[in-house]
Amino acid sequence: MSTVSVSAPVSQRKKVTTLTFRQKKEHGEPISMLTAYDYPTALAMDMAGVDSILVGDSLGMVVLGYENTLPVTMEEMLHHCRAVARGAKSALRIGDMPFMSYQVSVEQAVRNAGRFLQEGGMEAVKLEGGRERVDAVRAIVAAGIPVMGHLGLTPQSVNQLGGFRTQGKSASAAKRLLEDALLLEEAGCFSIVLEAVPARLAEFISQKISIPSIGIGAGLACDGQVLVTHDLLGLFERFTPKFVKKYADFHGEMKRAFGEYLSEVQARQFPGVEHSVETTDEEWQAFLRVASS
Ligand code: KIV
Repeated sequence: MSTVSVSAPVSQRKKVTTLTFRQKKEHGEPISMLTAYDYPTALAMDMAGVDSILVGDSLGMVVLGYENTLPVTMEEMLHHCRAVARGAKSALRIGDMPFMSYQVSVEQAVRNAGRFLQEGGMEAVKLEGGRERVDAVRAIVAAGIPVMGHLGLTPQSVNQLGGFRTQGKSASAAKRLLEDALLLEEAGCFSIVLEAVPARLAEFISQKISIPSIGIGAGLACDGQVLVTHDLLGLFERFTPKFVKKYADFHGEMKRAFGEYLSEVQARQFPGVEHSVETTDEEWQAFLRVASS
């Protein structure tokens, strides 16, 4: 690990807010969103000009190694939110409310949403679900906290959905999804994630709601797109869903770099002279004299 300190990021572009989201939809400009869980990734994303950074509870699966997102706690989320907030200044920062942090009562939902802003450095929260979350959404929004909804494949309900599968395929399920989207809009959400739903349904919903839809596995016609960054970077060899496009092979690159390091250490080739520090001959001779006296 280098000991060189990283200076604070200089924000060069205009701050992205929930208003920017609305304006982008009005002007037909696509909204870009990615997940991040740490400082350097958030810094790089912010510098690349990504509109919004979601500290997703996918944290549990891609960083912490859990089976699914259910074990993720508020404390784990807040820890990673703070790291992201130090790196991302221009992008809109959204914290994902973990399982059981908003389902028990409306009061609990408002308190925990508030923690994302007060303790996590976030500017908005996301939560999963439709009609059953309307009261919580309304109360959080009333507290001055912007809320992003999440419909379709909602990973926190994986046990109820019977696995990570496409949603809204039947006519009745599609109708329910549309109704939920309209209810979330009415409750005050500033945007809604549509995950793993048929592309033409996502297009239909996007046209019916006035707030931006952000798609993941929901086709091109959504108002914006989001991906889990570890999937985009190819950080895993494991299965990734059909809707993921790998823009890089970081897993392969990590294996190559670790293997090269290993063989150079074993062959005593690393560190080379250029990676070592030296004292002056004068100081060294002085040291040898005192060391042997
Ligand atoms: O947790 C997450 O990363 C998400 C995105 C997939 C939208 O909810």
